[in-house]
Amino acid sequence: MNGPGISYQEQDGSGTRGWTRQLADLYGVAFAGPPWRETHADVLRFLRRFAWQSTVPTFRCILAVADDELLGACYGYSLTGPFPPDEPFYQQLLTQIDAGLIDRHLRGTYEIAELMVHPDAQRHGVGTTLLTDMLTNCRQAWLCVHRDSHARRLYERAGFRHLAPLTAARNQPLDLMTWTAAT
Ligand SMILES: CC(C)(COP(=O)(O)OP(=O)(O)OC[C@H]1O[C@@H](n2cnc3c(N)ncnc32)[C@H](O)[C@@H]1OP(=O)(O)O)[C@@H](O)C(=O)NCCC(=O)NCCS
Repeated sequence: MNGPGISYQEQDGSGTRGWTRQLADLYGVAFAGPPWRETHADVLRFLRRFAWQSTVPTFRCILAVADDELLGACYGYSLTGPFPPDEPFYQQLLTQIDAGLIDRHLRGTYEIAELMVHPDAQRHGVGTTLLTDMLTNCRQAWLCVHRDSHARRLYERAGFRHLAPLTAARNQPLDLMTWTAAT
């Protein structure tokens, strides 16, 4: 699956917005299973998030495409100013995570905001390739992962290390993980 049939393409925010419908479909199927069990309402929340995320100047996305079908995507950005006040996720971060840790590890560093691979294409290295491509040219990055997600092992293998626990919407147990490029 991670072979010659798949092309990986990098897009900025406006380029990625051309894939909005396919991204929403992919999000819906990738996060439908455990431990996420996301619903149509969550897909709509994803679309609202993506609408502002894709306007962040540092936004970058890597898409995995085969025969014009979107098999996987990974995107992120670094926020240089304050965290968006209307986003519950960042408000949870600010209330639950030590301010010193936020300043040292999260502010101005690259946030891997989403990583998803279509269930039919999983476990063939697509997720690892997307993440590795995203980290190219990064010095420091961070992300949140569900404590019971298979993605956790993938992130650890890529060099992410646990920083702090975080309880997100619907009481989901997340782990905040950080990554620093090898010198
Ligand atoms: C996490 C995800 C992106 C991984 O994509 P992928 O293309 O399967 O990733 P890779 O093939 O590169 O790596 C797979 C590794 O992840 C772990 N993994 C992924 N799916 C797994 C599964 N169903 N069972 C066990 N381990 C799994 C394993 O460590 C696996 O390595 P292995 O196959 O050598 O054991 C994909 O499973 C996904 O979209 N999941 C739902 C959304 C999600 O959880 N995103 C991350 C949010 S933080």
